[in-house]
Amino acid sequence: MVKISPSILSADFSRLCDEIKFCEKGGADMLHLDVMDGHFVPNITFGPVVIKSIRKCTKLPFDAHLMIERPDKYIKDFVNAGSDIITVHREIKISIKNVLRKIHNYGAEAGIAINPETPFERVKDYMDRVEYILIMSVHPGFSGQSFIEDTLDKIREAREYIDSESLEVKIAVDGGVKQHNAKRIIDAGADILVAASAIFRGNVEDNIRKFKEIA
Ligand code: DX5
Ligand code: ZN
Repeated sequence: MVKISPSILSADFSRLCDEIKFCEKGGADMLHLDVMDGHFVPNITFGPVVIKSIRKCTKLPFDAHLMIERPDKYIKDFVNAGSDIITVHREIKISIKNVLRKIHNYGAEAGIAINPETPFERVKDYMDRVEYILIMSVHPGFSGQSFIEDTLDKIREAREYIDSESLEVKIAVDGGVKQHNAKRIIDAGADILVAASAIFRGNVEDNIRKFKEIA
């Protein structure tokens, strides 16, 4: 069953706990937390302090999508704040292997994310070290962008490789995921759909239910 992971980036932050509870009621499987540092991406969002406070609102698993240059410095903080999965980008300039090891050592699951211009080839060698691959289908930094269609080929490539190697890695797709393209993304091989604007614009519970019907 394909999972739905709402990204709170498009939520109303003045009532974040309510928004998260709507996600739970609608049947969300996990929550996607977009952490941005203004360096790796041209935007700043939130960090462990906010994650720790929303941890009290729900038991849903938290996936912290770290769009930051030095995730290695903060793994402990993100785990202590209540992140179950920590996803880091392949494009960072420090040793990915060390960061992934650190995530596992602190007891969290690890994900590796790739930007639209990064080929799947560049993360192939990490597929036996992670529980998730996050395929970005927009340029990271902002919600509300359009899905980049070329991503479908990358999802298929990742699916084929993961299946051919009998790996357990789950494929998450992030950016521009809407109800109208969800089926194509699932057919290409996605296990998890991440969506911000398609969930938090309008009625959150209804939006998630519609995604669940497609899934
Ligand atoms: C973009 C973030 C995404 C974003 C998705 O940098 O990683 O998670 O919130 O937003 P939508 O679903 O609106 O494209
Ligand atoms: Zn994200």
